[in-house]
Amino acid sequence: MMKIQQNISLKPYNTFSIDRKARFFVAVQSLEDLNELTPLPEFGLSKMILGGGSNILLTKDFDGIVVKNSIKGIEVINEDDDNVWLKVNAGENWHELVMHCIENGWGGIENLSLIPGQAGAAPMQNIGAYGVELKDVFESLDAWHIERGQIETFNKEECRFGYRESVFKKEKKDKYIILSIVLRLSKKPGINTSYGVIEQVLKERGIENPGIREVSDAVISIRQSKLPDPAKIGNAGSFFKNPEVSKEVFLKVKSQFEDVPSYPIDENTVKIPAGWLIEKAGWKGRTFDNYGVHAHQALVLVNYGGADGNAIKQLAFDIKADIEFKFGIELTPEVNII
Ligand code: EPU
Repeated sequence: MMKIQQNISLKPYNTFSIDRKARFFVAVQSLEDLNELTPLPEFGLSKMILGGGSNILLTKDFDGIVVKNSIKGIEVINEDDDNVWLKVNAGENWHELVMHCIENGWGGIENLSLIPGQAGAAPMQNIGAYGVELKDVFESLDAWHIERGQIETFNKEECRFGYRESVFKKEKKDKYIILSIVLRLSKKPGINTSYGVIEQVLKERGIENPGIREVSDAVISIRQSKLPDPAKIGNAGSFFKNPEVSKEVFLKVKSQFEDVPSYPIDENTVKIPAGWLIEKAGWKGRTFDNYGVHAHQALVLVNYGGADGNAIKQLAFDIKADIEFKFGIELTPEVNII
């Protein structure tokens, strides 16, 4: 039986560990809970749909209802000799799902090990790391249209995935609650070590024929060495997206800094790591009272305990303004500022 709580702190529900309150809060465990919830007057208020809370920065109390999606369950819905189709309910923890797949020998998401958050949030921003994105294994999702109270299915094309983007961050923003996702995983997995640092770790470990478990282990150790554990230091992963810039802008940066890393997008466009720009601008490791820029990865802003979301938002704006001033490059936040 679901319970609507009142005036509770959202601190345990966001990985930045920001202590802001919600007027109402409810965790839904099933479709029945959702059906029960929707006619209630509280549901008529403004809504914040929450998964793992790993991509938000709270700057104020929320004067509405927070709906935490806790619908659990993983099910094989189809398989053939090569593949397995897995239906995963939105409330499943992403990393536990990755581990479950590795246990079963199903490949495809091992490079996405240790990403915080829940399965239902993965398509929102097409999570990605170390050369793999959710869209590479994604088949479809079921989502609840909040106003119509109906379930609708979206195939991959309809989700309009891009770099940390989907239709659910654009036209369909705030209109749906993602209920479940279907992934196609491989029973005969190849591995993707295109991201140099994975290859390097495997080499250091003397692993010649890595399988999905070895790749996952390598990703876990890379992440642990660079990214702060949200259970210890509040953060929401990369705060900004890596900017895509014109060749012209890139060459200007390169003329100043020979070592600028870059990834080609097309003939005229290049992606530059925002972490590199932020480091070059002198922000890496800077600390202000109880918040700052992470010392091992400048793209991550951190709350050392008790920081106000507005202070972190201001820091993000200051960084953004400085990067614009120094490089003429505009940074866009990846985290949702609420
Ligand atoms: N770099 C620096 N200084 C820094 C950080 C990075 O010079 O402080 C340089 C690195 O040396 C490297 C390049 O920037 O040459 C790329 O760095 P890294 O491999 O750490 O990846 P990233 O581009 O900073 C992206 C994702 C991460 C993902 C990694 C690995 C975005 C916004 N971020 O970061 O995703 O884990 O690649 O694939 O695309 C997240 O979205 O929350 C996230 C952590």
